[in-house]
Amino acid sequence: MTTIRTAAVIGSGVMGSAIAAHLANVGIRCLLLDMVPDSLSPEEEKAGVTLQHPNVRNRLAANAIAKLKTTNPAPLYSEAFAQRITPGNLDDHFGRLAEVDWIIEAVVENAAVKQALLQRIETVWKPGTVVSSNTSGISINAMAAGCGPELRKHVLGTHFFNPPRYMKLLEIIPGRDTDPAIVASMVRFGEKTLGKGVVVAKDTPNFIANRIGTYGLLVTLQEMAAKGYTVEEVDAVTGPAMGRPKSATFRTLDLVGLDTFVHVAQNVYDNVTGEAERAAFEVPELLRGMVARGWIGEKKGQGFYKKIKGPGGSEI
Ligand code: NAI
Repeated sequence: MTTIRTAAVIGSGVMGSAIAAHLANVGIRCLLLDMVPDSLSPEEEKAGVTLQHPNVRNRLAANAIAKLKTTNPAPLYSEAFAQRITPGNLDDHFGRLAEVDWIIEAVVENAAVKQALLQRIETVWKPGTVVSSNTSGISINAMAAGCGPELRKHVLGTHFFNPPRYMKLLEIIPGRDTDPAIVASMVRFGEKTLGKGVVVAKDTPNFIANRIGTYGLLVTLQEMAAKGYTVEEVDAVTGPAMGRPKSATFRTLDLVGLDTFVHVAQNVYDNVTGEAERAAFEVPELLRGMVARGWIGEKKGQGFYKKIKGPGGSEI
């Protein structure tokens, strides 16, 4: 049985920060690590600090933790639990990955980046530490292919859904070489400690949930274009009318991030050979155009919906 008391989450974006929050919720202390910024923010320039200053170097993860306290719905059971999360940058704190029981990779959905990161992790990895990826659908086998056999026994997918505190589902994806005892232990941990409903999925492109979900969304977009349905209409019938006021189709897409969604759909397109299936997973130009404009969803304040400050600063 793997005992998990401490963790490190790599990538402090939409998912990494919220996964760290959920770990903090259940009493697990964790490091939240992101990249070193390559330029100063206007505030930092004004304060006269350099790119070498620790506050600048740790800024991405530190800002992500601060944001957890204002995000709605709240990722943390209590704001005080944010103290259980230590922010940092991956370069300066890399050695600390050897001190934790579980390393969760939640960086950008890009196979080459994830592969390189796993190989780098192997340089400090301590046997016994579980290493998992929050990938939406990239092959776990491909990701771990460049690593040694001992690490590969400890690598698996732990795919949380957005937002991780509230979404019950956790997909667990064993790789070809993952130790079955570690899989069993993580399933138990996911259910008992994290309070999730676990589904063990095969390592096929986009696993189960995103294979079906991505397909559904792309078909929806095709039907909208063909029949002239509007974003509001689709959200009305897939949201409030279904008793899901906050999880309508396009509101969810804005929450997920259109950039991430494009990577996720492209992953199936690139990894299947059947012509019909490839056609079904082709990313529409509409989405690519929105991403090119920077309209990638809530994280940038504009996606299918725009966040506008209302009276008193409330977001509408
Ligand atoms: P994001 O774009 O919000 O955040 C990614 C973070 O990773 C950024 O803060 C970036 O600076 C950091 N990063 C990139 N490369 C790095 C590296 N080499 N080292 C350290 N940090 C690095 O992305 P998001 O949405 O959080 O997605 C993360 C992972 O979770 C992806 O694999 C995605 O497919 C998956 N996922 C996303 C969901 C969503 O709703 N957005 C849901 C479930 C899974």
